[in-house]
Amino acid sequence: MIQIENLTKVYQMGESEVRALDGASFDIDKGEMVAIMGPSGSGKSTLMSIIGCLDVPTSGKYILDGVAVENLDEAKLAEVRGRKIGFVFQQFNLLARTSALENVMLPLTYAGVSGKERQDRAMKALGRVGLAERMYHAPNELSGGQQQRVAIARALVNEPAILLADEPTGALDSKTGVEIMELFQSLYKDHGQTVILVTHDSYVARHTNRIIKLSDGQIVSDEVNANPIKAGMPRTEV
Ligand SMILES: Nc1ncnc2c1ncn2[C@@H]1O[C@H](COP(=O)(O)OP(=O)(O)OP(=O)(O)O)[C@@H](O)[C@H]1O
Ligand SMILES: [Mg+2]
Repeated sequence: MIQIENLTKVYQMGESEVRALDGASFDIDKGEMVAIMGPSGSGKSTLMSIIGCLDVPTSGKYILDGVAVENLDEAKLAEVRGRKIGFVFQQFNLLARTSALENVMLPLTYAGVSGKERQDRAMKALGRVGLAERMYHAPNELSGGQQQRVAIARALVNEPAILLADEPTGALDSKTGVEIMELFQSLYKDHGQTVILVTHDSYVARHTNRIIKLSDGQIVSDEVNANPIKAGMPRTEV
């Protein structure tokens, strides 16, 4: 699904330069659920914005679902992004005073999908995140966890090849955060959804099947998590 080779991203800041990514290489297969960890400033968000086709690397190779995206122009990049990527953010980024259903329909409106199909697909996506009963509620009538579910439904409605989430549990209490991780697990289990998420919380990360650690823009470890934490397991610290 993803092939990344020797990826670098250098930001020019006046006289000095920041190497946000410094030769990162890895592959991610379809249906993997991966956590990216690392200290503040280690390059996690930079990596996510390149994977998500929001930005291009300074050098290196990036193949997404068979398409070499490292050299695409803005317009092509936006097209690939719209077709293949679903984004989830820490702060949900929902439209206020707009129902859950309309929030989820929005990406389909941009994609030019007709009214009836738009509604059907948005309802189905809300069903997948367990919010069918709340579809006419506006964000301020929903809990934080429910708002994040709406945001996840919105990210899924285009059936993206990859779901990318930067600190999806960062604005939630730990119990609600775990519920969101269990939702990601169900998407992965029931639909083989590829999920890549950033977290600084190792308990959250241990709900995934693989943990990649970054430091100063380099990958310092990349490990399979053979025993992900599942629903109902007692919380134990390591
Ligand atoms: N647009 C930019 N212009 C200049 N420097 C940037 C830009 N974006 C990020 N950087 C720098 O690149 C490095 C990596 O930033 P990045 O946002 O990827 O870190 P991060 O791992 O996501 O950190 P955090 O955990 O705080 O979100 C940092 O040193 C940051 O200051
Ligand atoms: Mg970040």
